[in-house]
Amino acid sequence: MPEKSPISALQTRPVPVRRTAGAITNPTPKSYAHQDLECRILSMRPPLTTALLTLAVATTAAQPAVLAPYSATPMDVVERMLKLAGTGPRDVVYDLGCGDGRIVIAAARSYGARGVGIDIDPALITRARVNAQQAGVDARVSFREQDAMTVDVSDATVVTLYLLAASNVKLRPVLTRTLRPGARIVAHNYPIGDWEPDVVDTFTDAAGVTRTLFLWTVK
Ligand SMILES: C[S@@+](CC[C@H](N)C(=O)[O-])C[C@H]1O[C@@H](n2cnc3c(N)ncnc32)[C@H](O)[C@@H]1O
Repeated sequence: MPEKSPISALQTRPVPVRRTAGAITNPTPKSYAHQDLECRILSMRPPLTTALLTLAVATTAAQPAVLAPYSATPMDVVERMLKLAGTGPRDVVYDLGCGDGRIVIAAARSYGARGVGIDIDPALITRARVNAQQAGVDARVSFREQDAMTVDVSDATVVTLYLLAASNVKLRPVLTRTLRPGARIVAHNYPIGDWEPDVVDTFTDAAGVTRTLFLWTVK
C-alpha cells in the first residue's frame, strides 16, 4: 500500500498517458539504463560466511543508500524543469541529489529564487559551492552533504528530483511529511511510483535526447 499523501488523487491509479504541449507523452521510459545498473548491483552477493555477512551488514548500515549515480541534467532541461514548476523569486528550490548544483544555481540566477542542494558526495558539494560563487549566487543558495532520506523540506516550495525510479518511491515519506500545499515537485525522467502527475512533459532536448518531466502540486 502506498503511504498517505496530500498530493491529489495519486495513490492507486497507474500513471496515465497524457497529451501536453502538442506531444503524446508516455511517462514510462522504455529503457532504464540506471535500473539495469541497479539490477546488476543487486545481483552481487558476498560469500556466505558469517564474518563477511556481518561486515557487509555493518558497512551497509553505516552508509546512506545511493539513490542514483551522478549524471547531470543538461542545462536546457534544467531551465524547462524550473519553468514547468513556475519558479519565481519567492520560491525556495530544493534539489535532492544536487550533483554540481546546477538546478538550484539556475533557479537563483534565472528566477531570483533561493535554493538548497543536498548530496552525499562531498566532492560534488564542493564543486556546487564553487559553481555558485562563480555564478554570483552564493548568497542565495546553500549546499549540504547529507542523505536525502533524512532531509527536512518543510521550507521548500519547489523540489526537484533526478534519481532512479525506485529512489523516488523511497523518498515519498520525505516529501509527504512536510511539504506544504502549493509546493511543486518536478522529476526528471522517472515518475514517483503511482502518484498521478498533474503534468507530463515529453520533449526532445537540445542534444536530440527524448526527456520526460513530471510535475505534481501539493494540494
Ligand atoms: C542523477 S544525479 C542528479 C544531479 C542533479 N540533480 C542534476 O539533475 O544535474 C543524482 C545525484 O544524487 C546523489 N545521491 C545519490 N544518493 C544520494 C543520497 N542518498 N542522498 C543525497 N544525494 C544522493 C548523487 O551523488 C548524484 O549527484
